[in-house]
Amino acid sequence: MNKAFYLETFGCQMNVVDSEQIAASLTSLGYSQVGSAEMADVILLNTCSVRDKAERKVYGHLGRFKPIKDKRPDLIIGVGGCVAQQEGEKMLEKVAFLDLVFGTHNIHRLPELIQDVEQNRKRGCATTFQDRDTRLNLFPERTVQESVTRFVTVMQGCDNFCSYCIVPHVRGREISRSSADILTEVKGLVAQGVREITLLGQNVNSYNLKSDEDVTFPQLLEQIDAIEGLQRLRFATSHPKDLTDELINCFGSLDKLCQHIHLPFQSGSDRILKLMNRCYTVAEYLDKVERLKQVCPQIRLTTDIIVGFPGETEDDFQATLDLVKQVRYADAFTFLYSPRVETAAAKMPDGQSALQKQKRFERLLDLQQQISAEVWQEDSDQVLAVLVEGQSKQGEGQMFGRTTWNRIVNFQGPADLIGQTVTVKITGVFRNSHIGELVEAQ
Ligand code: 5AD
Ligand code: SF4
Repeated sequence: MNKAFYLETFGCQMNVVDSEQIAASLTSLGYSQVGSAEMADVILLNTCSVRDKAERKVYGHLGRFKPIKDKRPDLIIGVGGCVAQQEGEKMLEKVAFLDLVFGTHNIHRLPELIQDVEQNRKRGCATTFQDRDTRLNLFPERTVQESVTRFVTVMQGCDNFCSYCIVPHVRGREISRSSADILTEVKGLVAQGVREITLLGQNVNSYNLKSDEDVTFPQLLEQIDAIEGLQRLRFATSHPKDLTDELINCFGSLDKLCQHIHLPFQSGSDRILKLMNRCYTVAEYLDKVERLKQVCPQIRLTTDIIVGFPGETEDDFQATLDLVKQVRYADAFTFLYSPRVETAAAKMPDGQSALQKQKRFERLLDLQQQISAEVWQEDSDQVLAVLVEGQSKQGEGQMFGRTTWNRIVNFQGPADLIGQTVTVKITGVFRNSHIGELVEAQ
């Protein structure tokens, strides 16, 4: 009988792509993917450790699998991703029923690790970094799934060491993929019917900075923009300190590049930005926002903000609110600071109470929600281009797609519109999506 695996993914888009590689690796061993842990021979969790809450979730989740393992001792349970990278062997000690742990650079070793458990019941741990590699080579295949939008990794790792962030510790140093590999992958995806690509990296602006022989990130965008059949291009994430004029200009010159950029600012206080090791000031950040708006007046921004960084004062926090008001982000991911082992900020003096941080967090959330509502309200009654992605969960005959600003639009329409860009008149604006009426299928 066919063997089955169950895979659960936590965290960022990087982990989503890694999970596709994990799935491809298991498929190559003859496993097929199932949607329930009870039916699986192998259960894998791909984990996130960016904040404490995400990390604790992993242990909570693992606990759920113990009764299944008690009933079926042959079941293989494994943990991968950032928590696995950080904890390594310790996870095997802490969780007696866990069989294998594989880090962020060891997905390619999964087949061997799984076979070792299958054949010898040998528990395994692989968390070594391949820091000496100069090129990022991904598992050759990805799971085939019909989809209009896909992520494509261009680089991994981070050399920035923002003082609060665990990513450089668990993902290793920056390493880029060759542009030839990326172009081949994108062309292959477009041939399969993909119409929108999001290029992924912890800091895409660092793409190929260590390699003189290959193209820069803006040049890569230009080459992908020229691929026939592709309709839209996005990228994430971009560090403000390395957002060059060359990259900013792409928003004016490349037809397929969407009018949206995710540009995390983290704090509106220069004092806190310095403590965070972000290497830019508020004035420099605002200057880049201004230039983005000059080359692309319709551009909308989203951002990440941390509240409660060690030593944050009311004045620092007020500066964050001021920046939010000035830029008017379409959306923001707001986070309460969470101390992470091995990071510089975890050793900094604090002095704020948990209640104070929570109250500030709520004030920021209220302000952002109000601004988001106003920004999205501007779409009301407008006729907007929507790339149709699939059938909506809203009900029979409803389709969904996204605008250039990455906003979901639900509308009534036929299923054969999937993969096409249509125009939709926006008739209703909700908190997380729009509804509209189909105007024209192109
Ligand atoms: N505490 C809170 N938020 C964090 N982020 C990263 N590390 C931490 C931390 N220790 C947030 C940042 C980053 C986003 C992905 O997660 O805002 O941009
Ligand atoms: Fe973390 Fe900073 Fe690197 Fe982003 S740029 S992954 S916040 S260290």
